[in-house]
Amino acid sequence: MLGRTPGNITAIKPMRDGVIADFEAAERMLGYFIRKAHKGKRLVRPRVIIGVPSEITQVERRAVKDSAYRAKASEVHLIEEGMAAAIGAGMPITEASGNMVVDIGGGTTDIAVLSLAGTVYSKSVRVAGNAMDEAITQYVRKEHNLLIGERTAERIKMEIGSAAPLDKPKTLEVKGRHQLEGKPTTIVISDGEIREALAEPIKLIIQAVRDGLERTPPELAADICDRGIVLTGGGALLLKMDERLRMETGLPVSIAEDPLSSVVLGAGKMLAPARCCRTSTCCGRSRSTSRNFHWPYGPQRHRDAENRMVLASLFFGLDPLGRRLDRRLGSLSGVWPTASFQSTDGADGHVVVAHDLT
Ligand SMILES: Nc1ncnc2c1ncn2[C@@H]1O[C@H](COP(=O)(O)OP(=O)(O)OP(=O)(O)O)[C@@H](O)[C@H]1O
Ligand SMILES: [Mg+2]
Repeated sequence: MLGRTPGNITAIKPMRDGVIADFEAAERMLGYFIRKAHKGKRLVRPRVIIGVPSEITQVERRAVKDSAYRAKASEVHLIEEGMAAAIGAGMPITEASGNMVVDIGGGTTDIAVLSLAGTVYSKSVRVAGNAMDEAITQYVRKEHNLLIGERTAERIKMEIGSAAPLDKPKTLEVKGRHQLEGKPTTIVISDGEIREALAEPIKLIIQAVRDGLERTPPELAADICDRGIVLTGGGALLLKMDERLRMETGLPVSIAEDPLSSVVLGAGKMLAPARCCRTSTCCGRSRSTSRNFHWPYGPQRHRDAENRMVLASLFFGLDPLGRRLDRRLGSLSGVWPTASFQSTDGADGHVVVAHDLT
């Protein structure tokens, strides 16, 4: 529908570049998804977990949360997309070794280095699929005097766009409006031309990955050398993107099994322990992921507490770099308003204990 609507209809994008661009539309969209997930049932107030780029501002964070609350969510949790992508891609992030994930989405590319279920490094750059589409639009206009819409640019990228020379050259017929003559025109465009158009955004993404590698502590960098980088997000599907990254970094690069769904699968996995707990007869000790945790309160509070602890351990668990948990409480309060945390030493290593303040 984008670019094809008559004057009385406007196609809007509630989200743009990974953040909310239209508050009201975002709220309605979330409300629609929530109803759809509950098969049209009204009066449902689900817990919602939302992936956000690591570098969004407090105001943008607030806007995301407010939209979800207004769409009738009972609890809203924000998770960094890099972390969610790594979990969704099945990376062993709870081990004491470095894992690097590069999530190339529509609005942002999120780069994260994770170890012991915590974020060691994360960076979000606003260069990803949309920037590539824009670069193609500009190129076609400059070189061929042809005006094309967003959808056409995206189709060109998906069909013949690539980050490194292809084994077999490809061409594509592209239709648009001639900038000077004003009439509908068809041109044939080659993969080489699109590679040239995509050179700048791809260079910026690669530079961001390099920066991430430079800022990774040496021990974890050594792990990444062995395990390599995992690519997720729709941008991972750009032809030869993995090969180009391999060439530029000299590291093994693999693509997640279902790159377009990694973030949502990861976020879903984070909500899963609560569901598992509901059926548990044991309230003092979970039978799900957090065998280390003891919860001293009654059964009703167990599910929420359990969920919080799992998230806490994922986000804020102690890491071997000596980063102190209490230093993270600042960032914690923004994400997790009802809990504080302290660390203790358990028989089998570090344990994070959650204290419910509500
Ligand atoms: N086969 C493909 N080749 C190249 N790009 C693709 C392909 N398939 C999807 N994309 C691009 O991937 C992007 C969407 O990816 P994804 O769904 O991961 O983004 P998102 O999660 O919605 O965005 P963000 O993470 O920025 O919020 C779009 O820009 C789309 O054009
Ligand atoms: Mg994404």
